[in-house]
Amino acid sequence: MQYSIEKKDSLSMEIKNIFLDEVDSTQLWTQQHYHLLDPYNISCITANYQTKGFGRYNRPWVCPKGQSITSTFYFRINVGFHGLHFLSQLLCISLTKILIYEELIPLIKWPNDILINEKKIAGVLCQTIFEKEFIHVFLGVGINVNIEPNVLKEIDQPATSLYIETKKLWDKTAVLQKLQEQFLQDFNLFLKEGFAPFLKVINDLLFCKGQKTKIFDGINSYEGIVDRVSEEGGLKLILNNGSTKIFQSGDIYRLR
Ligand code: BTN
Repeated sequence: MQYSIEKKDSLSMEIKNIFLDEVDSTQLWTQQHYHLLDPYNISCITANYQTKGFGRYNRPWVCPKGQSITSTFYFRINVGFHGLHFLSQLLCISLTKILIYEELIPLIKWPNDILINEKKIAGVLCQTIFEKEFIHVFLGVGINVNIEPNVLKEIDQPATSLYIETKKLWDKTAVLQKLQEQFLQDFNLFLKEGFAPFLKVINDLLFCKGQKTKIFDGINSYEGIVDRVSEEGGLKLILNNGSTKIFQSGDIYRLR
């Protein structure tokens, strides 16, 4: 499968950085300013501090000043692009590769969380604006880098940071740069070959795979065993009655 992204492919693309000291949210800032950004490259807007960072379902994203990576990747794609739902999974995969390279053992909590030792270390959020010819993509990522344990108590779910997991302080800029390089490489492969080359990685790192799980799809809850991420990027659950259901979005909870 091939996806087109205007005339250039991402190999010839660059990532252009914009660093901001304080914003409400890099997602909101980028959605307000994208018309000023380079349409032929990927822009990465990074804030030292967000006063109103948010995640999926508008949940607050807690990030103390200077201690985490809070960035939004912006690019535009042709309106015929059908791979939007893969993009947040793709960025999760790029980030897990970086973490594995650093000898950590991350898992992907489908569709867009990254866990270490079953605690959330990063989350990805994909938002879009549709125009006549183009889809503007805002791919946000929050990574807990040097956050200390007392701050993470404020979060509504078990969370961790690179600092807590490794007992050392990390260079945020270096982590972000590695992520950008990996994402550019993965995005390029995705544009050429679709999601197929990433299926094994995501399924090998899939949180709850083969385990009893509850999925809330925003309306109903379903219980079953997580089978795998499908070729289309959905999560396949074997329900307790033996039938199969594929989810396109949802929240996963492991049942003990
Ligand atoms: C989630 O876990 O639900 C996704 C969290 C995404 C947080 C990032 S931080 C940078 C960007 N700006 C935001 O306000 N949100 C995303």
